[in-house]
Amino acid sequence: MTKTFQASELRTKVAAVLKAAGSSDDESKRVADNLVYANLSGHDSHGVGMVPRYVDASIEGGLKTNAKAKVLLDAGSMITVDGQRGYGQVVGEEAMQLGMARAAETGSCIVALSQAHHLGRIGHFAEMAVARGLVSIHFVNVLSRPVVAPFGGADGRYGTNPCCIGVPMAGREPFVLDFATSRVAQGKMRVAHNEGRQVDEGYLIDEHGRPTTNPGVVVVPQSNGLFGALMAFGEHKGYGMAVACELLGGALTGSGTWHRTPDTRRSVVNGMLTILIDPAKLGTKEAFEQEALAFVDWLRQSPPAPGADKVRIAGEPEREARVKREREGIAVDDSTWGEIEEAARKVGLSLN
Ligand SMILES: NC(=O)c1ccc[n+]([C@@H]2O[C@H](COP(=O)([O-])OP(=O)(O)OC[C@H]3O[C@@H](n4cnc5c(N)ncnc54)[C@H](O)[C@@H]3O)[C@@H](O)[C@H]2O)c1
Repeated sequence: MTKTFQASELRTKVAAVLKAAGSSDDESKRVADNLVYANLSGHDSHGVGMVPRYVDASIEGGLKTNAKAKVLLDAGSMITVDGQRGYGQVVGEEAMQLGMARAAETGSCIVALSQAHHLGRIGHFAEMAVARGLVSIHFVNVLSRPVVAPFGGADGRYGTNPCCIGVPMAGREPFVLDFATSRVAQGKMRVAHNEGRQVDEGYLIDEHGRPTTNPGVVVVPQSNGLFGALMAFGEHKGYGMAVACELLGGALTGSGTWHRTPDTRRSVVNGMLTILIDPAKLGTKEAFEQEALAFVDWLRQSPPAPGADKVRIAGEPEREARVKREREGIAVDDSTWGEIEEAARKVGLSLN
């Protein structure tokens, strides 16, 4: 069963919970807007379903409400920022604002953001940059439970490390490629497990490192108290991208990498290395604009494959989802809504 909400109603309810959990009016509104926008974009795994985890993490102390980004280094095209465990939706935007202003001045900027609490949809940050005509590249690591197995390994050693590339398209909607480096999102396995479904082969290994189609292996501890793991997308290539995200998003930013046994802490800490480029300052703007548009037009002329309606570019499915969900509302399943109500109760609020 599901409940369907209009985006505005969901924003108001979520902001109320976040405020009761300690956030200022401004922070609770910004985080709620970001989460609901993820739902609108079709990414429920990064939408309002995160609220219970955020509430628990702030009660435990791993998430610091009302923390601001702290600039550690500001040296020309290099900016290093400590997220101080603040909401990623807030400190991530602060870091991006600094980087975008600098890239507009100098042509490029590298922003190393460490210790942000969960940044949510990384595509949000690329969308901020492409809206200002900037190319935006992001490598992110995730310090929470190690749910993804290294290629050739038999247990989880790192997180779903997302990678994102935004490219503005002159006069058209941008290319925004934004993906986890695991073959499938952990949140989708939880849904399949709750619904009693098996998943396709090639997504999971069990707690002994053997292939399985049982999503429960990454949701509940198995017979020996251990979890199974997700596989990387694209075998050794996706695994290599994930390691690059850990090395660049975790090590190079100073945020930290995962190399300890799992624990039950609820916080999700992200490090993000962002590279911003202003095509107007690279001297190739005209060619870039023409060639990028010509290539995308060429792609779209490919005849639809059997079972497909048309060729899309990255960012398009999210834009289509927004149009549909703004119109039809956002469906939230009963178990997720029940968890949000429970989170509200923990901070003394009734959502009814
Ligand atoms: N903050 C974190 O710790 C964290 C960790 C992991 C993932 N995430 C986020 O989770 C979200 C979901 O990741 P995912 O891997 O499940 O994404 P996904 O598999 O749904 O989509 C990935 C990308 O593929 C593109 N795409 C989808 N269908 C397409 C099509 N038919 N043609 C062309 N392009 C298409 C989308 O536009 C998107 O850019 C992302 O926003 C990511 O940033 C965040």
